Parts: sequence; structure tokens; C-alpha cells
Amino acid sequence: MTSNKPFDVEAVRKDFPILNREVQGNPLVYLDSAATSQKPQSVIDTLVRYYTEINANVHRGVHTLSQEATDEYEGARIKLRKLINAKEDAEIIFTRGTTEGINLVAQTFGAQHVGEGDEVIISNMEHHSNVVPWQMLCDERGAHLRVVPINDDGELLMDEYEKLINPRTKLVSIVHLSNALGTINPAKDVVAIAHQHGVPVLLDGAQSIPHMPVDVQDLDCDFYAFSGHKLFGPTGIGVLYGKRELLEAMPPFQGGGDMIKSVTFEKTLYNDLPYKFEAGTPHIAGVIGLGAAVDYVNAIGLENAAAYEHELLKYGTEQLEAIEGLRLIGTAQNKSSVLSFLLEGIHPHDIGTVLDTQGIAIRTGHHCTQPLMQRFQIPATARASLAFYNTKAEIDALVEGIHKTFEVFSL
Ligand code: ALA
Repeated sequence: MTSNKPFDVEAVRKDFPILNREVQGNPLVYLDSAATSQKPQSVIDTLVRYYTEINANVHRGVHTLSQEATDEYEGARIKLRKLINAKEDAEIIFTRGTTEGINLVAQTFGAQHVGEGDEVIISNMEHHSNVVPWQMLCDERGAHLRVVPINDDGELLMDEYEKLINPRTKLVSIVHLSNALGTINPAKDVVAIAHQHGVPVLLDGAQSIPHMPVDVQDLDCDFYAFSGHKLFGPTGIGVLYGKRELLEAMPPFQGGGDMIKSVTFEKTLYNDLPYKFEAGTPHIAGVIGLGAAVDYVNAIGLENAAAYEHELLKYGTEQLEAIEGLRLIGTAQNKSSVLSFLLEGIHPHDIGTVLDTQGIAIRTGHHCTQPLMQRFQIPATARASLAFYNTKAEIDALVEGIHKTFEVFSL
């Protein structure tokens, strides 16, 4: 498929072998892509080919296999640089995922810049991975975490955000697309406002990267962290983008092989970017597999896919809103891919369990956003999350499953 053809979901589904399986005697309806996306055959084949034909360590061998592995590893870095339109390959740091990317910034940039009495701004809709690393840093440094409030639709209160910025603010770290609500935050405005005060911004891109074209130069964010496994790639691999001047000035994250130029017992000279932040043997297969995932989404066309997903979300929202006793959590104007809901009188875990008996996979719980659940005064939600391989028929199956859930609990 190319990006200028109409979106053909049936053709796309054929690329994802797992979508053919059955669960509990029913066709799988996979509505949990915000937790992890399924993988196209091309990514699976790439992993098998890597281990079958070129498995070797990178940057370390003069032999052919090592050079082939290095070429593919560095080739993937170029693909990722192009995907997010970073200026340079050296600004693409491979990590284990979004969580590690955020921890890296907290423990390097944060340790360098955040001192006693300083402040870090996050929001009320952050995933724990964009709360706890800053809390740990602030506790260690005697600094303070400031939280941007949200409205009942799950949108950032931008006026309150601006008021929170002051001369003690050292960093703003905000989610681009909320995993629990689906809210797309006005990331460009968040960055522009912080920059007016000379404050750098990290965007948590874990959920945005598979759902929209991302241009870090246009956003002008200072850091952007994401995971490969939500972008149809393998687990255990992710990317931290950072502007060169910031990365250059930061101390290393971990010490070990590959992040050095030379070592004596007296002194170590650190390697150039991006290797300064990639200590130890990396997840080579993961990086190459993620490169294949980037090829895949480029072939599909993320813009095309986003338009299709938007239609699907609109349809799903209308269908769910029509169900008596269902309350949607997350009703932002600008939203993507997530339908979080409650059913009157039924615990979300019970909803998930009944739906599973019908082959429907959703996530239930607090979605690693406990402060957000506290904001809405709820313990949990049931969350259906979409990807471009989902269909209206699957939304219909969800709606039917919800009606059955009501029936089960009315008995
Ligand atoms: N952060 C992932 C989710 O929202 C795991 O489910």
C-alpha cells in the first residue's frame, strides 16, 4: 500500500498474523494497542532474518557479520531520525523504551540542573513513567513537582500551566497523547510557552508516535521519548530524541562499553553522541526490528492511517455514547484512539473479564495513571484502544459485548 491510495484496512489486517487467531472460541478483537501494538509479518521476518543470518555484535568487529549488523543497526537510526524529522542521526538515542528515556533525562539533565527549591512541571494526566522519575529527582534534590490541572473533559488548563512557570522552573515534561484519556495535548503551544521563559520541554511520545506524524523540529521540543512496541515494533527498544546542544552538555547515563573513547584507571574519555548514552551491547535485533516497523508505517502512511483511525474513533464514540449506563472518561475536543469508559454498577475488571470470554481484548485498571483516576474520583476504567488495523465491525463487537456484560450482571 502507498500513502496516496485510500486506506484499505482489510489489506492491512492481512499483514498482522495474530489477527487471525481465536480467543475463547471467538475471533480475536484486539482493542489494547495503547498497551502494546501487534506486529506486522515484515517486523517478525526481520527479527528471524537477523538472528538467522547476521547475528553479531555491533561497533566491535572487523568481520563481515559484525559489519552487516552494524550497518543495519545504524541504518535503523537513520530511519528513526527521518520518521521524527530530527536534524541529526546523533540526536537519536536507543533506549529500552519511553520509561528509560524519561529516566535518562531525569538522571542526567535533571541531576545537572535541578537543585534545592527548583521546580519541574508535569500534568495531571501523566503516566507514572512521567511522574515517578521526577518525583524521585525532586525528593533527592529538595525540589518541587508542579502539576498542571485538567478540566472535566481531560484537557490541560493552559492558563494554569502558564501561571506555574517561574524562574525556579527547570523543565516541563508533558504527555503528547494521553494513554488513559486519548487527549492530544497542544504540544507546540506547551513548548512555545515554556521557551518564552527559557525552560526546556520533554514530550512523552509513547502514544502519539503510532497515531500521527511527528516532527520534532516543528514541535521544537527539547526531548521526545517513545517506545518501539507501540509503533508495531519489538518490545524492549525505544528512542530518546534530544537536541544536540542539550545532549552534548549532559553527563552520561550509564557507564560501560561503547560509551567511551578511552579508559584508564585515572580517567575515562566519553564517546561522541549518540554512543555516549548507549552503554553496553544494545538490543540490536530490537533496533533492526524497529527499523522494519518504521518502513511498514511509512508504506501505510501515518497521515492516512490517522485519518482512518479518526473515523473509527468517531464511530466508536457515537456507539458508546448511545449505551445507557455507560460513561466516557476523556471527552477532549482533540482526541485520538482511546475509548475509556465506566459501566454503571460494574467494576472495570469484571467488564474486561466478560469481554475476554467473547474474544475482545481491552485493558482495565488505572492505566498507570493513578493521579488521573484520583482527579476523576474513580478507581479504574475499561479502556478500548485503537490502531489502524481495527474495524467498525470490531467496534460493533465491543458494543455487543458491553450489552452482554450488562446482561451478565443483571442476572
Ligand atoms: N502505558 C501502556 C498502557 O497505557 C502500558 O497500557
